[in-house]
Amino acid sequence: MCGIIGYTGKKQASEIMLDALELLEYRGYDSAGIALLDEKEGGTKVAKCAGRVKDLRSLCTQKDVSGTCGIGHTRWATHGGVCDSNAHPHRFGKVTVIHNGIIENYRQLIEKYELDGKLRSQTDSEVAAAVLSRFYQGDPYAAIRKTVLKLKGTFAFAVLFEDIPGKIFAVRNVSPIVAASTEDGAILSSDVAAIVPFTTQYFVVPELHVVCLSRDGIEMYDLSGDRAGIEWMTVDWDISRSDKGGYPFYMEKEIMEQPRVIEETVLPRVKDGKPDFSAEGIGDDMLTQCRRICVIACGTAMHAGLVGKSLIQAMIGIHVDVVMASEFMYNDPVVDGETLVIAISQSGETIDTLEALKFARKCGSPSISIVNVKGASIARASEYVIYTHAGPEIAVASTKAYTTQLAVLYLLTARMAIARGLWDEDKTKRYMAELLRIPRVMEEVLARKEEIHHIADTMLNARDVFMIGRGLDYSILLEGSLKLKEVSYIHSEAYASGELKHGTIALITSETPVIAVVTQEKLKSKELSNIKEVQSRGAKVILLIKGGEVLEQEKIWSRIFRLPVMEDEFMVMPASIVLQLIAYFVSLDKGLDVDKPRNLAKVVTVE
Ligand code: AGP
Repeated sequence: MCGIIGYTGKKQASEIMLDALELLEYRGYDSAGIALLDEKEGGTKVAKCAGRVKDLRSLCTQKDVSGTCGIGHTRWATHGGVCDSNAHPHRFGKVTVIHNGIIENYRQLIEKYELDGKLRSQTDSEVAAAVLSRFYQGDPYAAIRKTVLKLKGTFAFAVLFEDIPGKIFAVRNVSPIVAASTEDGAILSSDVAAIVPFTTQYFVVPELHVVCLSRDGIEMYDLSGDRAGIEWMTVDWDISRSDKGGYPFYMEKEIMEQPRVIEETVLPRVKDGKPDFSAEGIGDDMLTQCRRICVIACGTAMHAGLVGKSLIQAMIGIHVDVVMASEFMYNDPVVDGETLVIAISQSGETIDTLEALKFARKCGSPSISIVNVKGASIARASEYVIYTHAGPEIAVASTKAYTTQLAVLYLLTARMAIARGLWDEDKTKRYMAELLRIPRVMEEVLARKEEIHHIADTMLNARDVFMIGRGLDYSILLEGSLKLKEVSYIHSEAYASGELKHGTIALITSETPVIAVVTQEKLKSKELSNIKEVQSRGAKVILLIKGGEVLEQEKIWSRIFRLPVMEDEFMVMPASIVLQLIAYFVSLDKGLDVDKPRNLAKVVTVE
């Protein structure tokens, strides 16, 4: 949470930072600010305000924001409300700081350093700035080292010292910072997305290392003051993939990209007609020796895990738990050397998932992470990583990351089945052929976008929406419902349709649209009976059903979408696209900010 940018070079920093902050706005968008070192007069200039980056941009037209070295921030509030004074950067004495994370012991620090009455904001971040300022006596490294040792919590700081022109210092614990050299200087950010316009070479600042950026390059030291080497990485994201590509919102663009990114995720991992993870170093023994699997993830990534659970349990016959990462450690998890832990995360920075993964590793569990962002913390904290090739996902609502996570889970399930000797050539061939067909099937659904738009129209004025299904259908509805909630603000609940009659059916009225998904042959007759139950209570049913078969029952839907036919276990893919588009169109037609729903942030780095 919170986007961070820093630039030092020959160009005007404010323009570069404002552009970057727009790219980073998905990390938090309740306030924004920049600070620039004033190389002529000395001192630091700060422009900040509550609101979006566009508000900051217009504020900057009224202020002197010239300068070639600066830091910028877009905020997702944790401590202190949303107001100008709580926006970052925070200046205290000679230091100006931006911060992502939470300083847990900020109250103790206020007391210890007698800061009461001296602070201008209610943020924990300004407390850190004040402590740093207290320790700063001309040696920035020493001051940062001393400060860091006093802090409890997570942090990524970028710092300007007003008497050190042209230099940006940064340090982090857990919260991410990446840095890179540019043709005329250097840049740092919370995200690779902001680096991509400048270079493809970057590095992840290691935890508790102090990095210094200047026009002459980048230096890094560990906390004992020893110079540290830099491990450069290459980002393979194409810059053109970071724009909206002519769509009104990133969410639509990202939904439309799914056939291509699925292909890019799957094809490099198919050799001789079989899934192959040798490039990732994942040997078959890892997949054959585990007795159970535990998936840890949050939100959409956790929903991908639920689909993985159904696949693995059905095809491999081993037990799979899917645990909300935020709850993992508080429920006495039983994981051990025989439990393969799979952490799933688009950003690779979700702190709940990261901490759960670290915990599981301490218990001796082998681990694989499925991550979209190269070099992210979760990727580095796990033994093995499989990257989804979804490219930058900017919309807060995750779409293409989800389906690429599913694609990896399909591949992993198949590799596991083959490695365990459970499938013969024929079964492998049929499964792989179906897997490779997904992009084409997705294209078929995407081509019917307007049909889905009409279905979405029926939900525009709904206060509540229910989504019902069983088995795999229920798993994808959990995701469909999250999507609708987060971008349209309509209360929506996914319910296992057999469970409705145990209480929740009391909420169904003629005002409640119900989306029912029926794609699993073995569950069909029961699902159809459950649909009749809600229909009898007046609900208008929107039926998403596999194929074009004529239903024996009298008409039980008010709208129907016939999904292209795939083998049952793959129906998740076309059905998910329909649910994503329904959420998108409802949000669009309600005139909401589809890409930046209220209260949310793309990367959740607070527990
Ligand atoms: C998805 O639409 C959400 N905004 C959210 O649930 C997200 O999936 C969750 O926060 C996990 O993020 P991650 O994949 O980056 O770990």
